[in-house]
Amino acid sequence: MTLQHVFGVDLGTGTVKIYDQKNDSISKEVNMVAVRNTDTVFAVGNEAYEMYEKIPENMEIISPMSNGRISDVLMAEAVLHTLLFRTSTRVGYRPVIYFSVPMDMTEIERRAYSTIARKGRFRRCRVYLVEKPIADALALNIPIHHTKGDMIINIGDQSTEVAIIADKRVIISRMIPIGGRSFNEAITQGIRKKNNFAISDRTANRLKVTLANLTEDPAEGCKVSGIDLSSGLPRNGIISSRNVSECVQSEMLKVAIELRKILERIPPQVRAGVLENGIYLTGGSTRIPGIAEYLTRQLGCTVRLSKYYELSTICGLRELITHTELQHWAYAPGRR
Ligand SMILES: Nc1ncnc2c1ncn2[C@@H]1O[C@H](COP(=O)(O)OP(=O)(O)OP(=O)(O)O)[C@@H](O)[C@H]1O
Ligand SMILES: [Mg+2]
Repeated sequence: MTLQHVFGVDLGTGTVKIYDQKNDSISKEVNMVAVRNTDTVFAVGNEAYEMYEKIPENMEIISPMSNGRISDVLMAEAVLHTLLFRTSTRVGYRPVIYFSVPMDMTEIERRAYSTIARKGRFRRCRVYLVEKPIADALALNIPIHHTKGDMIINIGDQSTEVAIIADKRVIISRMIPIGGRSFNEAITQGIRKKNNFAISDRTANRLKVTLANLTEDPAEGCKVSGIDLSSGLPRNGIISSRNVSECVQSEMLKVAIELRKILERIPPQVRAGVLENGIYLTGGSTRIPGIAEYLTRQLGCTVRLSKYYELSTICGLRELITHTELQHWAYAPGRR
C-alpha cells in the first residue's frame, strides 16, 4: 500500500475536476467563489453556483480563472483547497498534485500553481504540471510518440483549444475565444432581440443544455421566466429549440471558420496525417447533440467525438498518475 496521496487537478474556467488516486475517483464542481464583504469566502464550487444571480448586495461571485488561466490566485487557492478537502479529508506525508495547464505559460504563471497548492496541510506537497493537450491525448489514446499528425479540439467553457501533435510533441496550439459561455451569451442576446424578452445567464445555460441541437430540430420548447422588455414586468415565455440552436450555430460557425484557417496553415505532411486520422473533439461543450456532425460538414473531414467530454483532461491525468511510464510528460514548475 502506498503512503503517498496523489491528486490530479484540472482547473477549468467553468468546472474544476479532481482525481483522487487513493479512491480512484473523479469529482467535478463549478469553479466559482461567493465572497462576502469583499474578502470573506462564503461558499465555494457548486454551493457558490447555487447562489449565482441570487446573492445579496454585500456579496459577489468570483471566477478564479479566465480563458483557462489563473486570474485570481487567492480565489484559485480557496477553490482548490475547499474542493481537495471535500474529496479527501486525510492526506499523507508530502502529497503530490498533478495540474493540467495551458500551453505557452510564463514563468510566473507556472509558479502560481505551486503557490496555490502549497498551503495548510498541503504545504509540503510536490507539484507537477502537464500540458492540457498532452493530457487529452493520453485520455484519447493518441500514440504521441508515433503519430504523423493528430488534431485535438477541446471546446470548454470560455475557449476552444486546438492542438496539433506530431514529432512526439505539441507542434501547434491555438486558443479560439469561444466556448460554452459564448453560447449562453448568444442565446441571451438572440432571445432579447427576437422575443423582446430578457433571461438570466442560468436560464440561457439551461436552454442550451436542454434544447440546442446542431444537426436536427427536435421541434421542442421550454417554458422559462424572464422580463418582458416592453412592459419591464416579469413574465413566462416559451422558447423553441430552433431559436436556441440558431444562436449556438452562429457561434459554432465562427469556430469552424477559425479551424479551417488553422488546418490550411499546418505543414502539408502533418495535415495529411490529421485528415487521415480524423480530428478528435472533446470538452464539456461537445455535449451539444450533432456538434461532431456539424464540424465534419464544415471542415470536410472526419471529426471523432470523445466519450469523455469535459472529463478528458482529468482522465488523461489519471492515465499519467497510474502509469509510471507516462510520467515523463509531467514537469516541475521551475523546470522549463
Ligand atoms: N449537456 C450539455 N450541453 C451543452 N453544453 C454543456 C453541457 N454540459 C456542460 N456543458 C458546457 O460545458 C462547458 C464546460 O466544459 P468544460 O468543463 O470542458 O470547460 P472548462 O474545462 O471548465 O473550461 P475551459 O476548458 O474553457 O477552461 C460549460 O460551458 C457548460 O455549460
Ligand atoms: Mg477545460
